[in-house]
Amino acid sequence: VRAAVLGGSGRFGSALALRLADAGWDVVVGSRDARRAVEAAGQLGAAVSSGAAVQGALLRDAVRDAEVVVVAVPDAGHGPVLREVAGLLRGRVVLDCCVCRDPGDAGRWRRPREGSAALRARRLAPRGAAVAAALHTVPETALRYPDRHPPGDCLVAADGPAALEAAALVASALGLRWWEAGDLGVAAALEQLACMLSRLGARGGASAPGLRLHGLGPGGRP
Ligand SMILES: NC(=O)c1ccc[n+]([C@@H]2O[C@H](COP(=O)([O-])OP(=O)(O)OC[C@H]3O[C@@H](n4cnc5c(N)ncnc54)[C@H](OP(=O)(O)O)[C@@H]3O)[C@@H](O)[C@H]2O)c1
Repeated sequence: VRAAVLGGSGRFGSALALRLADAGWDVVVGSRDARRAVEAAGQLGAAVSSGAAVQGALLRDAVRDAEVVVVAVPDAGHGPVLREVAGLLRGRVVLDCCVCRDPGDAGRWRRPREGSAALRARRLAPRGAAVAAALHTVPETALRYPDRHPPGDCLVAADGPAALEAAALVASALGLRWWEAGDLGVAAALEQLACMLSRLGARGGASAPGLRLHGLGPGGRP
């Protein structure tokens, strides 16, 4: 599978890109800056254990040949990044991970005009693109250091079967159990849950609490 990770030069995107490449996916790091893209891809490529390719490209070039487009940029850049690539998204699955946090308080959710980042992505992407939202509650450290963290769980919101299937493939490649939480209308709740976990973690002195569900049946397994 070929994935573009927009924001793959950042904390979350780079950890996610590394784990996907480790699972054998071809990954393109998408950045606003060509040099940053190539540098990030070089660092990730040197750390990948599977021999899979990691490339770096400007946002639009990263999306061109990707089947799955992961959006891993902060709220401030989410709309602009999606607008830039929107014309190229037809026939692809957008997997949105963005959490709309209050810039002054990471533990507080700030509702965007569209209702959530995922609904903004749905509005900006063309009809022929599928949109899923997931991984909001998966801390980047859990992806970066899987040996130090228990495998987490994740909830997926999707606008249809193609989006659900792609999000499930990503979650499984990352070693996560996943459950279908509902359509994109539930993405706001997933974003709020991520903010709540940050708040609880900060209070309890844990920097990156994750989510572990039980009593739900097997869910999707890696
Ligand atoms: N950190 C986590 O543990 C975690 C977990 C789950 C979900 N998330 C979500 O994933 C997203 C990224 O989080 P992060 O911690 O990785 O953020 P980050 O490191 O601050 O940013 C990620 C990348 O986004 C791009 N970016 C930053 N500001 C931008 C802007 N104003 N406009 C366009 N692009 C911009 C940058 O890439 P270029 O400069 O190369 O373009 C940057 O490297 C957020 O929405 C966050 O809520 C994070």
